Amino acid sequence: MSYKDIYEAAQADPEKFWMEQAEKIDWIRKPTKALFDDRAPFYEWFRDGVVNTCYNAVDRHVEQGRGDQAAIIYDSPITGTKDMVTFAQLQEQTARLGGALQRQGIKKGDRVIIYMPMVPQALVAMLACARIGAVHSVVFGGFAANELATRIDDAEPKAIIAASCGIEPSRVVSYKPLLDGAIELARHKPEFTVILQRDQLAADLKEGRDYDWNAFQADAPLADCVPTGGMDPVYILYTSGTTGQPKGVVRPAGGHLVALNWTMKNIYDVEPGDVYWAASDVGWIVGHSYICYAPLFHGNTTVVFEGKPVGTPDAGTFWRVISEHNVKVLFTAPTAFRAIKRVDPTGEFLKKYDTSCLQSLFLAGERADPATIEWAEKHLKVPVIDHWWQTETGYAIVANPYGIEKMPVKLGSPTVPMPGYDVHILSEDGKELPAGELGAIAVKLPLPPGTLPTLWNAEERFRKSYLDTFPGYYETGDAGYKDENGYLYIMARTDDVINVAGHRLSTGQMEEVLAGHPDVAECAVIGTADDLKGQMPLGFLCLNAGVTRSPKEIVAECVKLVRDKIGPVAAFKTAIVVDRLPKTRSGKVLRGIMSKIADGESWKMPATIDDPAILDEIATALRLVGYPET
Ligand code: COA
Ligand code: AMP
Repeated sequence: MSYKDIYEAAQADPEKFWMEQAEKIDWIRKPTKALFDDRAPFYEWFRDGVVNTCYNAVDRHVEQGRGDQAAIIYDSPITGTKDMVTFAQLQEQTARLGGALQRQGIKKGDRVIIYMPMVPQALVAMLACARIGAVHSVVFGGFAANELATRIDDAEPKAIIAASCGIEPSRVVSYKPLLDGAIELARHKPEFTVILQRDQLAADLKEGRDYDWNAFQADAPLADCVPTGGMDPVYILYTSGTTGQPKGVVRPAGGHLVALNWTMKNIYDVEPGDVYWAASDVGWIVGHSYICYAPLFHGNTTVVFEGKPVGTPDAGTFWRVISEHNVKVLFTAPTAFRAIKRVDPTGEFLKKYDTSCLQSLFLAGERADPATIEWAEKHLKVPVIDHWWQTETGYAIVANPYGIEKMPVKLGSPTVPMPGYDVHILSEDGKELPAGELGAIAVKLPLPPGTLPTLWNAEERFRKSYLDTFPGYYETGDAGYKDENGYLYIMARTDDVINVAGHRLSTGQMEEVLAGHPDVAECAVIGTADDLKGQMPLGFLCLNAGVTRSPKEIVAECVKLVRDKIGPVAAFKTAIVVDRLPKTRSGKVLRGIMSKIADGESWKMPATIDDPAILDEIATALRLVGYPET
C-alpha cells in the first residue's frame, strides 16, 4: 500500500486502523475499541485495554526467543566504557529493581523521579517503574537544582532514582548536591532515594533516606509485570512552555505502545533485531521514545551513547559507533551534525570507518537546515530524513514514512503528515489558509494514540495552552505552511519557546529568573540565530533607576543566575543593558522584531508600536556587541 492509501485509511476509519495496529501489542485484556470520545475534547485511546509497558518492551521478546539478543548497547567514549545488556538480562534487572521498589512501598500510580545521565541503568529504572505500574518522570541532567525542585513539587514523587554524577567533556557534574539542594528547596519531600554510585565520583549517602543502587536491590524479589489500564500514565515528561512552570506532558500506556511500535517499521524502516541509535539524552522526548521505548517495543537493539558528537574524543565518534555496533538507523538533532561538519568539513574522519551498515539518518528537534542535510547526504551516502514532532506528541506528526513509501525529499520540509494527524494551517482567526501561506499549524482533534491526553495536574492549563485558540484543533505552537502537494514547512514558534542545540527552552522562564536580580527593573530574552546551536538566547536588561554599578558586572551576575537557577543547558551567555524595551501600546514587548534586528532580517514597523525610536536604540545596542553577525 502507498503512503496515501494508508493515510486515507486511517482518516476514513481510525477505529479500524488503530485496532489493527493494536494487534501487534501483547495485551493482558484487549481493548474493545480504540477511541473513547465521551470526555471530548479530552480524547482517550484504548481505555478499557489492560497492558504492561515493560512486558511489551522486554519480557515478550525473551518469551519469543530474543533473550540473548542485545537489548541495550552502552557505548561511553567519555568514560572509556562499553557494555551490553541482553533482553534476558534486562528482564532480570527490571524485575529486580521493580521488586526492590515495591518492597520499599512503591505501588501502581506512585511517581518516581529519575535523574540520571546516559547509562543503561537509566533505562532499567524507567522500565522497572513501568513494570510495577509506577509513573516515572525523568529530569535532564543539565538542569539546576531549582528546576528539579519544581518537578518534585509538581509530580510529588515517593522516590527519586539518581546517579552520583554525570560526565561532561569539561567537568564531572556531581548530581548528589543538586539532588540534595532540590529536595531541600521542594515543598514535597520524597520518602527515599536510590543512588547509582559511579566510579568517577561517589556521592555521600544520607543514612535512612539514600540507598545505594546495588545494596537496595541485592536480595529483592523479582517483580511481575503489573497490569495497568490503557489510559494509566507510563510517564510524565516536563517540557518548556511560556512561563517558568514547565508543563507535565502525560503519556498513557495503551496509545504509547501501539503508536510507537507502529513507527519503527513504517517510519524508520527497521526490522526486529536491527540496531537503532538515537543520539540524544533520556531526559528529552527523543530519549524517552527512541532510546528507550519504541526500539524495545519493536524488538530492536538500542544504543545508549554517553558522549558528544565532537571532542569525545573526536569528530569520528559517531562513525565509529555506527560501524562498531552495526547501526542501521541513526536519529539525532541537526546541531550534532553541524558540530561535526564544523570540525571536519571534508569528512576526513568518515574515511576511517566502514559505515555501510547505515541505511538512513533521521533528524528532528529543530529545523534541519538544507546545508546540513546536504553535507550529511554527501558524506554518509544515505538518505537524510527530516521529521517534525514535539514532546507533546511523542512521535512524528510529519515525516517521510520510509517503511511504507520513500516519498521524494524536498529540502526544508519534513514531508507529510503521519496517519491520524490531520494537519491544518490556520489564520489568526482560525480560517484555513491556502497552500503557500504562512499560518499557525494546528491538528484537528482527536490527536492519534500515543499523544498527550492532558497535562499532569493541570487540565485547565492543557485546555488553555493547546485547545482554546482554535476550537476543535490542537495548537502546535509552530508556524508554517503547506505546499500544493501537501508537504509541510515548519518556520518558527508562535510562542516564547526557543530551540538551542535541539533543546527546547522558554525565554519567559529566563526572564522570570533575570527579573529576580535586584538591579533589574525590566528584561526580555530573545532567540538569535546561531550557526552551531540553531538559536542562542540573548538578554536585554533595563536597570533600576539609580543603579550605578558596572553593567558588565550585572550582566555577569545575570548569566550566573540563569545558570544557577535553570542550569547550564539554558546556554545563557550574553545580555545587553538598554534604557528601554520596545513595546506595543498595550505593553507587549516586541521580541519577534528584536530577534529579526539581531539576525539582520527584514522587519515591518508594527502599527501598534508605542515609540518607534526605541527600535533604533535596540539596533544600536546590538551593533555594539556584534549583531547582526556578518
Ligand atoms: N548534564 C550537565 N550539563 C550538561 C548536560 C548534562 N546532561 N548536557 C549539556 N550540559 C551542559 C554543557 O556541558 C554546556 O555547559 P557549558 O556551558 O559549561 O559549556 C551547557 O550545558 C550547554 O550544553 P549544549 O547546548 O548541549 O552545548 P555543548 O557545547 O555542550 O554541546 C552539541 C553542543 C551540539 C555538541 C550538543 O548539544 C549535542 O550533541 N547536541 C545534539 C544531540 C542532542 O542532544 N539533542 C537534544 C534533543 S534531540
Ligand atoms: P521538543 O518538544 O523538545 O521535541 O521540541 C518541539 C519543537 O521543536 C517543535 O514544536 C518545533 O518548534 C521544533 N522542532 C522539532 N522538530 C523539528 C523539525 N523537524 N523542524 C523544525 N522544527 C522542529
